[in-house]
Amino acid sequence: MRIPRPLRRALRTRKRKLERRARIWRGEAISRVRVAAWMKHPWWLRLVPASTRERMRLEAPRPGDRRVEIGAGFSGRPGYVHVDLLPFTDDIDIVASGDDLPVPAQWADEILAVHMIEHVPPPQLMTTLQHWYSRLRPGAALVLHTPNGAALGAAMATAGTETGEDERYWAVMSAVYGYGHHPADMTSAAALKGAPDHKLVFTSPLLRQLLADAGFVDVEDVSGQDAFCHHTRDWSPYVDGLCLEVRARRP
Ligand SMILES: C[S@@+](CC[C@H](N)C(=O)[O-])C[C@H]1O[C@@H](n2cnc3c(N)ncnc32)[C@H](O)[C@@H]1O
Repeated sequence: MRIPRPLRRALRTRKRKLERRARIWRGEAISRVRVAAWMKHPWWLRLVPASTRERMRLEAPRPGDRRVEIGAGFSGRPGYVHVDLLPFTDDIDIVASGDDLPVPAQWADEILAVHMIEHVPPPQLMTTLQHWYSRLRPGAALVLHTPNGAALGAAMATAGTETGEDERYWAVMSAVYGYGHHPADMTSAAALKGAPDHKLVFTSPLLRQLLADAGFVDVEDVSGQDAFCHHTRDWSPYVDGLCLEVRARRP
């Protein structure tokens, strides 16, 4: 019997949804086991073969190696504990919200968040910064990367001319609102599809002030110093200095 096309499509969509839900469930379950192993050192851990402990990353990072990357997404940095709201890849170690990390106070040697804070709802921004402060050991660094509002404004002013906008205008707009597409594909308003996901745009003085308000010291703008940042590279034809990089320290 031939299945009608609309039904086939509906079944395919349903299958994709179930697969996604199963991936999330699996990632969350592994994250829970990992966090329990790291924080509680349970008796059963000794029964798990060493190869499985290594494969599942069940050994807790030692003091000095506790570098945490929040909002790692698909591009977590090597050498960091990767945290995200969703287990996008097997590389995500902990599935959690950045403002509710399942690690004790003063646990982390560094917290890094690359293009994540612009996704935090404004009412939760200060509590998130204060939470990171509490999770860092004294003297440890917080490093934030986020789109630079001043660079975006300058790029927008240049791209939108009196004789009509050039194509870069739509790429800049996509970076402001966070449509999440590659800038090369943003050639018209019609290309800005889907729901934008940025809640805030920061400038250097604003972000530095917020960090000082949260209790951080030695707050400095270190933009352009991070050779690993793929955002700076990807966006350089559209926005000069897209990535605002700020470093601070818990006293
Ligand atoms: C624009 S992506 C950046 C991904 C990666 N850091 C990069 O630079 O390519 C933002 C990431 O932050 C994550 N994220 C947003 N809000 C978060 C929160 N409250 N806690 C943890 N992760 C969050 C998203 O799920 C997403 O993976």
